[in-house]
Amino acid sequence: MNKIICLKGDGIGPEIMDSAIKVLEEISEDFNFQYEMIYEDFGGVSIDKYGVPFTDDLKEKLKDADAVLLGSIGSPKYDSAPIRPEQGLLALRKYLNLYANIRPLKVSDSLVHLSPLKAEIVKGSDLVIVRELSSGIYFGEPRYYSDIEAYDTMRYNKEEITRIVDYAFKIAKLRKGKVVSVDKANVLSSSKLFRKIANDVSKNYPDVTLEHRYVDAMAMELITKPSTFDVIVTSNLFGDILSDEASVLGGSLGLLASASFSVDGISLYEPAHGSAPDIANQNIANPIAMIRSMAMMLRYSFNENKMSDLIDDSIDIILNEGCYTKDLNSENYLSTTDWTDKLIEKIKEIKNEYTI
Ligand SMILES: NC(=O)c1ccc[n+]([C@@H]2O[C@H](COP(=O)([O-])OP(=O)(O)OC[C@H]3O[C@@H](n4cnc5c(N)ncnc54)[C@H](O)[C@@H]3O)[C@@H](O)[C@H]2O)c1
Repeated sequence: MNKIICLKGDGIGPEIMDSAIKVLEEISEDFNFQYEMIYEDFGGVSIDKYGVPFTDDLKEKLKDADAVLLGSIGSPKYDSAPIRPEQGLLALRKYLNLYANIRPLKVSDSLVHLSPLKAEIVKGSDLVIVRELSSGIYFGEPRYYSDIEAYDTMRYNKEEITRIVDYAFKIAKLRKGKVVSVDKANVLSSSKLFRKIANDVSKNYPDVTLEHRYVDAMAMELITKPSTFDVIVTSNLFGDILSDEASVLGGSLGLLASASFSVDGISLYEPAHGSAPDIANQNIANPIAMIRSMAMMLRYSFNENKMSDLIDDSIDIILNEGCYTKDLNSENYLSTTDWTDKLIEKIKEIKNEYTI
C-alpha cells in the first residue's frame, strides 16, 4: 500500500488539496492504484495546536511514508510571531534531505493571452527550473542579526553542487538537451565553485549543451526571451527568486506545480505558490498547481505515468475549452469546487484512452 502524508496547511491549502484528493479518489480505482492518505497538521495549523509548525510526531510518521503532498503554509497572523509556519517548511525540506526542487513551466497556447508578456515573446515557452534546495544562504552558518549589523553565509560544497547540476543534465537529456547554469561568479566565491563544477559535470554529457548566465542577466532574459530556455539550474537563493519570476510567465501563480526530490528518501510535492490568505475560504483559488503537483507525485514517486498523463491532459483540455478559475478570467470563471467537478467530468470522459 502506498503511503501518502497529506499536509493541507494554511490559507487556500485545504481548499486546493481537497480538489486534488477528489481527483485522486475518482481515478485511483480505474488504475488499481492502492494508497493510504494520512492527514497531518503542518505549518500555522500545527503552531495553533501544538506550538510548533513541524512536530516530532510528524517526523516519525514521515519515516514510514512514500511521498508527501503539501498544500501551502503561512498567514499574516504569524508575521511578528516568534515561531512562523515557514520555519516548519525549511525544517521539513532539511529533514527529508530534499536537495532538488523542480518547477516545470509550460505556457500552453490557450493561455498565452493571460501572460503579462507579449504573446509573441512567451509563446512556446517550455522550461524547467532546477533549484538547489538543501544548502546555500538559507542554511549557511554563521548567521547573525542585531539592529545595527546582520549577516548570512552562502556556503556550498562540491558534493552539493555536483548532485544538483548532474540532476539538471539528466533532465535536459530527456528534453531539448540545453542547460543554463545561473550564478554570480563575478562576485561570489560560492558561485565560482558552482560554475567550475557545472563545467566539470558537463563533460559527462556530451549531448547536452551548457551555457552560463549571471543571475542579473538571467532575470532579464527570463522575461525577454523565455522560449529560448530548456533547463535552468541554480543555487537556492537565485532559484527561489527566478522560479517566482518564471511563475508569472504563464499568467497565474496558481498554475505552477513543483516537486522536491531527496537523495534516497521520499519526495515532496507542492504548488509553487503560497497560502494566498487574501483569497482563502472564498472557493475561488485555482487548484491547478496543486493537482499538477499530485500528478507529478503519481509519476515520480509511484511510476503511474498514465494516471499522471490523464490528469495533465484533462486540465489542458478544459482550459482550452475555456473553463477558468477567477485568477485566469475574472469576468467568466468557475469556483474552485465547480472547476474541479468539470475536470473530473473530463477525466471520466477520456479515461478509457489511458486505462488500456
Ligand atoms: N511553499 C509555501 O507554502 C509558501 C510559498 C510562498 C509563500 N508562502 C507563504 O504564503 C503566505 C502568502 O504569501 P504571498 O501572498 O507572498 O504569496 P502567495 O503565493 O500566497 O500569493 C501571491 C498572490 O498570488 C495569488 N495566488 C497564489 N496562489 C493562488 C491560487 N492557487 N489561485 C489563485 N490565486 C493565487 C494570491 O491570491 C496573491 O494575490 C505568506 O505567509 C508566505 O510566507 C508559503
